[in-house]
Amino acid sequence: MEAKKSSFNRMWDWVDTRYRANELIQALLHVEIPRSAKTFYFGGITLFFFIVQAATGILLSIYYQPSPDSAFNSILFIMNNVRFGWLIRSIHAWSANLMVLFCVLHLLRIFFQAAYKKPREMTWVFGVVLLGVTLVFGFTGYLLPWDQRAYWATVVGSEIAGALPIVGGQLLTFLRGGADITAATLTRFFGIHVLILPVTLALVLVIHITMVHQQGLADPKREKVDDQSRKKRLLPFFPNYVLDEMIAWYLMLAGLIVLASVFPGGLEEPADPLRTPEHTKPEWYFLFLYQALKVVPRIIGVTLPIIGGILLLLLPFIDRSPYVELRKRPVALAVGVICVAGIVGFTIWGWLS
Ligand code: HEM
Repeated sequence: MEAKKSSFNRMWDWVDTRYRANELIQALLHVEIPRSAKTFYFGGITLFFFIVQAATGILLSIYYQPSPDSAFNSILFIMNNVRFGWLIRSIHAWSANLMVLFCVLHLLRIFFQAAYKKPREMTWVFGVVLLGVTLVFGFTGYLLPWDQRAYWATVVGSEIAGALPIVGGQLLTFLRGGADITAATLTRFFGIHVLILPVTLALVLVIHITMVHQQGLADPKREKVDDQSRKKRLLPFFPNYVLDEMIAWYLMLAGLIVLASVFPGGLEEPADPLRTPEHTKPEWYFLFLYQALKVVPRIIGVTLPIIGGILLLLLPFIDRSPYVELRKRPVALAVGVICVAGIVGFTIWGWLS
């Protein structure tokens, strides 16, 4: 006689007969990845921080009010009156910074391991879009507390966008919703931050991860991109890789809670458009650009990052060398090291000045 199935199994059968769920799970989990692939879990960790951002962002939006009269006070309310509100806000701020950091580390590991080369060109292109969206997340989120720092950093940031040749003026008006930073800017940034960007990031992320899943991870030990001769030693994605990834997520969660508790997110005085503070600095990931703009002519300072972004996007189509090993890619290595050193150097300079 057939054993009685548990209610979960019956429910699962119901789903499976309609949507072939078993096939999907098999396809997702029974992947094997090269044992030599060293991802340092950076991509997965970036995904973890995005999930944290979505969860804490939804909680914050329950109390946040996007208008100049009430935005600042609603943040004060979250910090002082809502239970664990200060912690949720602080986790959201720290996780935003860590998401940018790990996204950049992920990009660097892909670059130095040549994982952007054939057949992963489009995975890289969608990755650059993800980085762009992540940075705009940071820029739009910065204004929402409507304190002095938020207000004046947005003045400086939008002025940089306004200095762009040809489209600058229109871009400035579009960003601010007029000539100045007003209620129109705040509602605009809020809408972009809580609706347009999350939906865009989630969609692009699904494409990005599907591509990674379909192609598997690159083998950094192969000599050339098309090298089929090397016998790869494979490792099951589930449970081996997934368990390691979960350990990385737990460590990140622990670090995040410690950071958010020991260094909670602060708040300056309410925004005052008539009182310019002495020092206005953007978030650390825009500092290199801010510092560069102080020392090079403005037109060069705003055009160079745009050209840099386009070159980054097109990198897999520009770098046609078939080699994977770093010692056979001297030009890529030199360009990569100079760019990283330049950005880190300008960031430190901007920090100290
Ligand atoms: C929100 C941002 C991003 C998330 C959540 C994300 C997520 C992931 C994940 C989970 C993987 C699997 C392997 C790993 O963990 O390294 C991966 C692979 C990959 N990502 Fe990303 N990624 C993001 C941004 C980027 C960026 C900025 C780039 C480069 C411009 C990029 C390019 C790639 C490439 C080429 C692979 C395949 C690597 C290989 O085969 O070894 N990704 N991504």
